[in-house]
Amino acid sequence: MSSIIDEVDYGPLAQLLGKWVGNKGLDNAPDASANPDRTPFTDEIVFTPSGPAENAEEQDLVSVRYHHIVRKLENGRIFHDQIGHWIYEKSTNTVMHSLSIPRAVCLLAGGEYKEDSGLSIFDVEAQAGSPVYGIVQSQFMLEKATTKAFKMRLTVKGNELKYREVTSLHIYGKDFEHSDESTLTRVIYDQD
Ligand code: HEM
Repeated sequence: MSSIIDEVDYGPLAQLLGKWVGNKGLDNAPDASANPDRTPFTDEIVFTPSGPAENAEEQDLVSVRYHHIVRKLENGRIFHDQIGHWIYEKSTNTVMHSLSIPRAVCLLAGGEYKEDSGLSIFDVEAQAGSPVYGIVQSQFMLEKATTKAFKMRLTVKGNELKYREVTSLHIYGKDFEHSDESTLTRVIYDQD
């Protein structure tokens, strides 16, 4: 354990720190045809400590920063790249997830941290148009491939991390539930 981790109480976020890899991902993405694209993928996620933050001298937050790289299982090509922070407020048990993807879509999702039978559960949601946990996107995306809502459950137990996220889109003239899920294993602990 590093000195940085020792100094700051990251609460449940401490369990995320390190490098995680997996080859069990499944992407369900929209396609102009009637059939969605289902693509198996590999994951690489690195979580690093990003320190405490005090807001308006009354809110105490801690956070970890991550970079998530997704490659097609069949050829190793990167087809999704995501960065963001997971943020935790101990006094309210609130968990927040900010993310940015290079399609010109960013969001802040929020929810509650839970534990169940040794499993740590991070549940967050965001809705387009909400002033609190909302979504921002480019003019093009708003018009042609709107992200209307986002919902994610990430769970951790020891060195196993799972996630499932559903991005509610409106694209090609119809609603589409774009979903991604995977299971990863921690290969390096502590990335400060
Ligand atoms: C592991 C996570 C993800 C993977 C592997 C993934 C992959 C993909 C793929 C392959 C497409 C279809 C692209 C095409 O039409 O050629 C797509 C579309 C899209 N994704 Fe994701 N995605 C992920 C997560 C997300 C997230 C978190 C968001 C936003 C919050 C998002 C927003 C979109 C949007 C708006 C589109 C529509 C663009 C289009 O198809 O023209 N995706 N994604």
